[in-house]
Amino acid sequence: MDILLERKSVRKYTDEDVKKEDLDYILLAAMSAPTARNTRCYSFIVVKDKETHQKIAAVHRAAQMILQAPLAILVVGDQNIAYKKYLPQDCAAATQNILLAAAAKGYGSVWCGVYSDEERSEAIEKLFNLPENIKAFSLVVVGKSADNNLPKNGWQPEKIKYEAWK
Ligand SMILES: Cc1cc2nc3c(=O)[nH]c(=O)nc-3n(C[C@H](O)[C@H](O)[C@H](O)COP(=O)(O)O)c2cc1C
Repeated sequence: MDILLERKSVRKYTDEDVKKEDLDYILLAAMSAPTARNTRCYSFIVVKDKETHQKIAAVHRAAQMILQAPLAILVVGDQNIAYKKYLPQDCAAATQNILLAAAAKGYGSVWCGVYSDEERSEAIEKLFNLPENIKAFSLVVVGKSADNNLPKNGWQPEKIKYEAWK
């Protein structure tokens, strides 16, 4: 399987757990992403608690799949240590590595957006008791896929320009 081309958002899960060694690999991959000035401003909160999953679902309309999944990883960034305004880019790179590492280990996942949505960010930051400088970036739901949707974002030659826009 070509991990990069086959990755897709998974929104249905079995109740099978994510193995500890696979979770560690996924988190190591997250920490191996590029980060501006190597500040490594991210941290990761692994959430397995079902009650917390319900609380997340109550404040994040587009993250209902968490109710069936074994775990989610909340990606957060520390704005006191991020370089300039690169916190979202650092956290996005880490988030993408989580998706790809999960696929590499045979799991499905989906990136649920938090950052940039003021209402969601506030609710999630409150739920996880985050200090003022720690910003919630994304919530990545991970588990064994029960979703038979197909990868959808293939080759689009019209997206490619050479040398300049025209
Ligand atoms: C910044 C961002 C926020 C997203 N937020 C959500 C979300 O809240 N819930 C969800 O189900 N999918 C979310 N997605 C997943 C996209 O819907 C998905 O990546 C897109 O439809 C392409 O499908 P694919 O991932 O299967 O290629 C998000 C993706 C990104 C990059």
